[in-house]
Amino acid sequence: MLIEVTDAQKLVSPAYDDSSTEAQIAAGFFARHRRLHEAAFGGHAGGGSGSSRRDGYEISTDRARLDVDVVHGFLRTAYWSRGIPLETVKRAIAHSLCFGLYAPGGKQVGFARVVTDEAVIAYIGDVFVLSEHRGRRLGIWLFETVLSNADLQALRRVELATADAHELYARFGFRAFRHPERQLVIERSAEELYRD
Ligand SMILES: CC(C)(COP(=O)(O)OP(=O)(O)OC[C@H]1O[C@@H](n2cnc3c(N)ncnc32)[C@H](O)[C@@H]1OP(=O)(O)O)[C@@H](O)C(=O)NCCC(=O)NCCS
Repeated sequence: MLIEVTDAQKLVSPAYDDSSTEAQIAAGFFARHRRLHEAAFGGHAGGGSGSSRRDGYEISTDRARLDVDVVHGFLRTAYWSRGIPLETVKRAIAHSLCFGLYAPGGKQVGFARVVTDEAVIAYIGDVFVLSEHRGRRLGIWLFETVLSNADLQALRRVELATADAHELYARFGFRAFRHPERQLVIERSAEELYRD
C-alpha cells in the first residue's frame, strides 16, 4: 500500500523534552516512529519490502531494486569507505536491511543500510542522498522511514557514526555515548583495508 508520507510526517512530534528520562525518550521515540511506519506502509507488521512516495520520489526496502553501481559509486568516494570494493558493497547489501531512495523516473538517488538482529540492536550506516537531490528534506524523510520500519521498533539500542552530522541526527534523539569509557570497538580504517 502506498500513501503520501507528508501525512505520515504530520505525526512527528516536536523535539524531545530534556527533562524526560532516557526510558521515556526511547519509548516516545519508538512509538512515534512506529506510527510513522504504519502511516507510511499501511500498518504492515513485518519487515520484508515496502515503499512510500513523496513528491514523485520513492523509498523502497526492495533489495532487488537497488542500483549497486550507484551505491558503490557513492561509497567508494565517501570519507568513511573510500576505495571500498564493489564486491564488499554487494555483500553488505545482501546481509542488511536496505532502503533505496528513487527519483521520479526511477533512478536511485539515495540509500541507507541497517545492520540489525531486529530484536535488540541496530546499526545504521552508509546513508546518503546524491548531491543533485540534497536540500529537499529527502535525507530527513529517508531517516524517518528507516526509524519507523516495523522491524526496528522496541530495540534497546540504535547506533550510528558520523563525522559532521551530529545536529541532524540529534533531531531523531541520537546523542553521544553517555559512558564512552564503556564502549569498546575493533576498528580498521578504509585506507588500511581498501588500499590497492
Ligand atoms: C546527510 C545527507 C544524507 C542529508 O541529505 P539531504 O537530503 O540534503 O538532507 P535534508 O534536505 O533532508 O536536510 C534537512 C536538514 O538537515 C541538515 N543537514 C543536512 N546535512 C547535514 C549535515 N551533514 N550536518 C548537519 N546538518 C545537516 C540541513 O541543513 C537541513 O537543515 P534545516 O532543516 O535546518 O534546513 C546528505 O547531505 C548526504 O548524503 N551527505 C553526504 C553523505 C553523508 O555525510 N552521510 C551521512 C553520514 S553519517
